[in-house]
Amino acid sequence: MPDSAETLQRTGGRELTRIVYDEKTIAARVAEMGQEIAGAYEPDEPLLVLGLLKGSFIFLSDLVRHIPRPLHVDFIVASSYGSGTTTSGHVNLLYDPSISLENKHIVLVEDIVDSGTTLSRLVPMLEERGPLSLEICTLLHKHIAANLIREPRWVGFDAPHEFLIGYGLDHSEDFRNLPFIGSLKHDS
Ligand code: IMP
Ligand code: MG
Repeated sequence: MPDSAETLQRTGGRELTRIVYDEKTIAARVAEMGQEIAGAYEPDEPLLVLGLLKGSFIFLSDLVRHIPRPLHVDFIVASSYGSGTTTSGHVNLLYDPSISLENKHIVLVEDIVDSGTTLSRLVPMLEERGPLSLEICTLLHKHIAANLIREPRWVGFDAPHEFLIGYGLDHSEDFRNLPFIGSLKHDS
């Protein structure tokens, strides 16, 4: 089905193969995930939701509003992608939260697990700081990572092996503001 005029307006004319997860589907799943996370910790245990920027920013902001308990939020920036659609296998840590992770339960929030490089680099670094626990929550999981250091405890959707954009996910910094998740058509 061709993209609607509204979609093309949002993408600046770039065509999508299809919309993979629409707004309603995402909202329903994110609400469920929030409840699941809340249920995993005792109400008096300190909880820090740590978002991996930039990709997780929309997911995280929707998610924390569905976790009905006290929590703290912080962010970390790690990028494994250059400007294109293929992974460089290289992880840059651009911002490291100065706040202590000690004696806190950490939920690390990712937009998508692809090659797993980012997580494999980050998990040991965060573990070194002595959190009470460290769990991963990802909106999307491609299930292609060969030796993922740790499986995410919470997965929103098992994603198709396509390049996805929207709801925080970008292609060369474009499309993060799409309210849905779509699959980008290759340049012809
Ligand atoms: P990994 O280190 O290969 O698992 O990749 C993780 C990061 O790459 C994610 O946090 C995303 O920012 C980016 N990424 C991986 N796959 C996609 C995709 O399909 N669309 C947009 N970004 C992606
Ligand atoms: Mg990312």
